[in-house]
Amino acid sequence: MGIKVGFDYIRPEMMVDFDECAEKVKSIDHMINTKTGAGAYYLGWLDYPNTFDKDELSRIIKKAEEFRKNYDTFVLCGIGGSYLGARAAIDSLLSFHKKSSMEFIYLGNDLDPNYITDALEYLKNKNFCICVISKSGSTTETSVSFRLVRKLLESKVGKEKAKDAIVAITDKTKGSLKRLADKEGYTTFILPDNIGGRFSVITPVGLFPIACAGIDVNELLEGVKEGMIEYSNPDIHKNAAYQYALERNFLYNQGYKVEILASYERRLQIFSEWWKQLFDESEGKDGKGVLTASVTFTTDLHSLGQFIQEGSKIFYETVLYIENPSRDTVIPHDEEDPDGLNYLEGKTVSWINKQAYTGTLQAHSHTALNPNITITLDKWDVKELGKLFYFFMKACAMSGYLLGVNPFNQPGVEVYKKNMFHLLGKPGY
Ligand code: PA5
Repeated sequence: MGIKVGFDYIRPEMMVDFDECAEKVKSIDHMINTKTGAGAYYLGWLDYPNTFDKDELSRIIKKAEEFRKNYDTFVLCGIGGSYLGARAAIDSLLSFHKKSSMEFIYLGNDLDPNYITDALEYLKNKNFCICVISKSGSTTETSVSFRLVRKLLESKVGKEKAKDAIVAITDKTKGSLKRLADKEGYTTFILPDNIGGRFSVITPVGLFPIACAGIDVNELLEGVKEGMIEYSNPDIHKNAAYQYALERNFLYNQGYKVEILASYERRLQIFSEWWKQLFDESEGKDGKGVLTASVTFTTDLHSLGQFIQEGSKIFYETVLYIENPSRDTVIPHDEEDPDGLNYLEGKTVSWINKQAYTGTLQAHSHTALNPNITITLDKWDVKELGKLFYFFMKACAMSGYLLGVNPFNQPGVEVYKKNMFHLLGKPGY
């Protein structure tokens, strides 16, 4: 089945007319492929499954094996596009049941003094390695945490051994991280210049940490390649990524300014964070764009569910549903039935979850009249995930161009940085 986009829970008047928009979609598709639209230089991810450096991938897999053999803890230092994709994959593919041999600690994605201090204290007693990821090489959050954790490592094992335990993923030639890595002799992998952070999960940025978690990155890339082929069709009737992009743009123009991504599995929480970053950083500019939010059902049906059912009508929902769980449990019989649950005896938790999904779709679309787009996957595995990453990236490119913005820059992010640098007394600010 693969990835199926459905519009059954959208009223006909809220449904875009594919035929009417077919030519527009075709012309944007052409613009994407010929790299002639705004920010097109950063479309390096478009055909990455065909162009990536195979030798580098072999080195990535080898170094990941070395890390897995030698360390018990992996510290990933990065923020935004420089860590969310990898974490989304690791969190969603591993569990209590299927653990990585290394524990993963995420640093460099905030300036929270409590968390950073706690993490450093915790790491004192760990045999840890570090992967620092930054395209610019100078992001404050990442640099500060990296300096702290690097100094801790050096004080524990000495500079020489620390060198073997650090990998830097950054630009090929420029930036202070590149300079530091070269000076210290760290292993480095390249974050291609023509791929922005939020589109970089399919490059060493995602591949190295994911490989360190023991996940097959060749499979991931196979899924990405499948997506690349499937979502290259310029025909709106045959391209699910473009259908999703077109409908979200149509709903935006009808006044729905917020998109809520709902899923029914907690393992997808960080994936939703990745999705939010992809769309908000790509589209929220020039006074335009859909604001994204995410919820995990059924948990959030008991909190945000009230607003979604009866609150102001500023949003539509996109429901990500996995048909077959990786693990499942059957409800047992109870002789006395004090909790009155024997009517569910013999049913699986996934079956109950599915009834919640269907009932909620009906409540939110038929009763509350919220437009609900569905995205259904047969199963969740590394290959499907690779394909889904590509699905959303391609949809985002189309969606951004439909909106009339450059989906590949993020000028707004610089504003807080400048103010902060000034306040911090950074030279030149
Ligand atoms: O998508 C993006 O471009 C951003 O989210 C960046 O990935 C993020 O700001 C981190 O930047 P850098 O990799 O330069 O440290």
